[in-house]
Amino acid sequence: MKNKKIYSNILEIIGNTPIIQLNKVMGYTQHQFFAKVEYFNPGGSVKDRIALALIEGAEKRGELKPGGTIIEATSGNTGLGLALVAAVKGYKCIFVMPDKISREKQELLKAYGAQVVITPTGVEPEDPRSHYEVARRLVRETPNNFYTNQYHNPDNAKRHYETTGPEIWEQTNGEVDVFVAGAGTGGTISGVARYLKEKNKDIKVVCADPIGSILYDLFYHGKIIDPPASYKVEGVGEDMLPENVHFQYMDDFVRVSDEESFRMTKRLLAEEGLCVGPSSAMAIVGAIKYSEKLEKPSRILIMLPDSGRAYVSKAFNDDWLIENKLIAPQEKDKFARIVPAEQLYKENNWSFK
Ligand SMILES: Cc1ncc(COP(=O)(O)O)c(C=O)c1O
Repeated sequence: MKNKKIYSNILEIIGNTPIIQLNKVMGYTQHQFFAKVEYFNPGGSVKDRIALALIEGAEKRGELKPGGTIIEATSGNTGLGLALVAAVKGYKCIFVMPDKISREKQELLKAYGAQVVITPTGVEPEDPRSHYEVARRLVRETPNNFYTNQYHNPDNAKRHYETTGPEIWEQTNGEVDVFVAGAGTGGTISGVARYLKEKNKDIKVVCADPIGSILYDLFYHGKIIDPPASYKVEGVGEDMLPENVHFQYMDDFVRVSDEESFRMTKRLLAEEGLCVGPSSAMAIVGAIKYSEKLEKPSRILIMLPDSGRAYVSKAFNDDWLIENKLIAPQEKDKFARIVPAEQLYKENNWSFK
C-alpha cells in the first residue's frame, strides 16, 4: 500500500520531535525557554536516533552481519533504542549496565528479548567488574558480535550533527541564542553544537553537568580537581572522557545537584505537564542558572532526553526521595497524595448516605 501517512516500520518515525515552550518553571524572566522533547521517539528517548545510526553504520561497513549480536554498555536508553532497532532488523542484544539503573528499564529490555548484565556502581572504570570492562569481555567471547561502543563511536555525534541539529535549526527558523544539554556520551551536545555553530557562530552552547561528574573539571581545568562521586541522576555526567565529547563546541558548563534535578522533575510534571526524566530536569535547571548571567533577552533551547515514566519508583516516589535526602520528610504528600476513600470520608466527617 502506498500512502504518505503510513510508515513502513516503526524506525521511520525516529526523530522530528516537537519543541515546546516552557511557561512556568523558570519564574519571572526576560528570556524565553524552549524544550526539544525527545520522549516522543518510539523507544522513548533521544537514544533511538543513535541506535539506528550505530547499527546502520556497522551494517554499511560489514561489521554487523545477519543474525549477529549487538553488545553495548548502556545506561538504559541506548539499550531500548538498540533493542527496538534490533527487533525490527532481526539481531540479538546483550546489554551491560550499572546496578543504579531503574528496574523498569531492565525489565523492558528483557521483554524486548535482550540479555541484561548488571554491574556494581562505584568501581573504577579499569576494574574487571565495571560495565566497560564486562562489555569488553563479552565482545571477546561472543561470536559474530558488534560492540556499538556509543561512548567512542563517531556515528553517535555524527547522527546528531546530521539530524538533530538541522531539525532544531529548521523548527526555530534559526532563532536560538543558547543551546543547553547534558552530556553522557557527549554525542547529543557535540553533534548539535557543531551544526548550530556552523550556521551561526554566536550561538552559545552550555553543558549542564551533575555534581560528581568529572566533565566540568576537564572542561575548565583540563584535569580532574574533584574526584568523581556518585549521584542519582541517570544518563548524564561521566567518570571518564568519551571521544564523543567535543569541548571545542562548548562555551560554558553549569553544575547541578541531585536535589535541584529531582525537585525540578516533579515541578515539570505538575506545572508544565511534561513527564520527563531527571536528566531533562537537570538540563532545565542548568539553563535557568546560566540565563541569570545573560544581559540581553535570549531564546534558550534545552534538550530533554527521555520520559519520566521510567523513573516513577524514584523521581515520583516521595519515600524514595526522602530516603535519598532529596526532599525533607515534612514535604511528603504536600500538594498531592494517594488516599484511601475511607480515610477521605473520615477526614471530612462525610456520612455514607
Ligand atoms: C537519560 C539520559 N539523558 C541524557 C543522556 C545524554 O546524552 P548523550 O549520551 O548524547 O550525551 C543520556 C545518555 O545516555 C541519557 O540516557
